[in-house]
Amino acid sequence: MAGEAKPLKEKLKNGVEGLSARQLAEHHGVLYAGYVKKLAEIEAKLATADLTEANATYSFVGELKREESFCTNAVTLHEAYFDSLGGDGKPSGRLAEMIARDFGSVERWDADFRAAGLAARGWVVLAFNWNDMRLHDYSLDIHTHGAWGASPILVLDVYEHAYFLDYGTARKKYIDAFMRNADWAAANARAEKCGIYG
Ligand SMILES: [Fe+2]
Repeated sequence: MAGEAKPLKEKLKNGVEGLSARQLAEHHGVLYAGYVKKLAEIEAKLATADLTEANATYSFVGELKREESFCTNAVTLHEAYFDSLGGDGKPSGRLAEMIARDFGSVERWDADFRAAGLAARGWVVLAFNWNDMRLHDYSLDIHTHGAWGASPILVLDVYEHAYFLDYGTARKKYIDAFMRNADWAAANARAEKCGIYG
């Protein structure tokens, strides 16, 4: 899992309407890149850690294991978030058809995703759950929450660091900007890659 930080999409480098270049650069170049670096550090330390000292209250290996999960999900979700930006915000393709099937309509999904964005403390993830074979909007209060067996398709980061430089506490305006810039071509490609179209 550990490796190099993925570069920011070319079309995000100068910012997009509603999200400044500085906001995206701080989020990507400092915070996301920091998770990638720390994950590599954790994995290297785990390879040589003293496993005999494992203890649930405190142990070095226990902390490494906890932070391994935290950082792994932080990297996965941030990569999906940056991949979810840079489009025209218009749901399209087979994904739009599946959204209408599973949420009743694209409009209902849009309202559900935005509401989850206002209510969540960390993330909103449009994901395909392989257990019931349908799409859901999952809300996560921390990186280590989530639904096992679900593949992220469109990911929204609602931690304050994702929007505070541009919007202060006005999270709703940030969510509006995200939705205007959602990259549905990338979301369709992600859905295709994880095999939900069969
Ligand atoms: Fe973030």
